[in-house]
Amino acid sequence: MSYVHQGKIPPKRHTIFKSDEGNFYYEQLFGTEGFHGISSLLYHLERPTQIKSIGEPKDVSPKIAVEKNVTPRMFKGMNVSPEADFLDSRKVLLVNNDLKMGLAKPQNSTDYFYKNAECDELVFVHEGTGILKTFLGNLTFSKGDYLIIPRGTIYKIHFDTKENVLFFLESHSPITTPKRYRNEFGQLLEHSPFCERDLETPVLQEPINEKGDFLIKVKKENQITDFIYATHPFDVVGWDGYFYPYKFNIKNFEPITGRIHQPPPVHQTFEAYNFVVCSFVARMYDYHPESIPAPYNHSNIDSDEVLFYTEGDFMSRNHVDLMDFTLHPGGIVHGPHPGAMERSIGKKFTEEFAVMVDPFRPFKITEEAIKVEDPSYKTSWLGQ
Ligand SMILES: [Fe+2]
Repeated sequence: MSYVHQGKIPPKRHTIFKSDEGNFYYEQLFGTEGFHGISSLLYHLERPTQIKSIGEPKDVSPKIAVEKNVTPRMFKGMNVSPEADFLDSRKVLLVNNDLKMGLAKPQNSTDYFYKNAECDELVFVHEGTGILKTFLGNLTFSKGDYLIIPRGTIYKIHFDTKENVLFFLESHSPITTPKRYRNEFGQLLEHSPFCERDLETPVLQEPINEKGDFLIKVKKENQITDFIYATHPFDVVGWDGYFYPYKFNIKNFEPITGRIHQPPPVHQTFEAYNFVVCSFVARMYDYHPESIPAPYNHSNIDSDEVLFYTEGDFMSRNHVDLMDFTLHPGGIVHGPHPGAMERSIGKKFTEEFAVMVDPFRPFKITEEAIKVEDPSYKTSWLGQ
């Protein structure tokens, strides 16, 4: 991440900082991994600690249907039901100790604030436009945006219409750009498929100086708890540092191509502890005269593999709808569907867009996932 500075900050950290009227501004260190990870310093109009009440926690633990999975599966995202409320709409489909993955079709903007107090969130916008409003500023979003929302970010989300589809991850470890694409100073290198110009940071808004009852729904340890605070959470007059939400559009990912088939790591976009996120984008196919553009059969021994299909046609699959998820468990061979390898020869270009998540520990399957499963997928590689 790059250093960002917005609004008013004092020339030296941890020193007296007052408004023109002589009122103190209140400093907050916002960061992760103790005092070791990246952080930002925020300056509030009011102390951000003024809890009025804390409600009863509501348990939102995903219900596990399959604890130990060895079966290739397909889940039909189109059959996930929309819900009015943003948090209710988030259906977790796959889960392990490192992350949760799911699909959400929220219809309404939030009138409360929300904070995930223990997980970074990745929200990929499959459909919908709106504004992510955070205490560090606003990010407009549209189709194809990855929104990276670090843990502890207080936010609201505004949707322009009721037609919204969000693919989301909740990660117990920080979600970052791949380390191999960054130099020792953190700058993205020349061979990275994207650079800092492609990452958009939030724009700080005028601080809101209001007192009253402000509801922040706090998610932690699979519980959502209503906190009522006495001051408006968006009362930040300025901040600086390296820790903030940002967005990256999948269409700004510059594909790495070659004469022969390139392995999945060329598509890598983000990483976290025990999983990676890759972007499959429109790209030229391999250009060796004898090349086979379809992937070879492979068994990804050390990770499960999930693909979420978001736009275009998928050369290696005989039948896939947008919003489908496929899950290929680690250790079980998979590959192109019958005829797909032959069909791919001589093809020059693909228009496919997909998000792939490879967790290094196996996924458990939730009841929500089983509701939308296509059970015929596991035998779909049989010849005609
Ligand atoms: Fe694969």
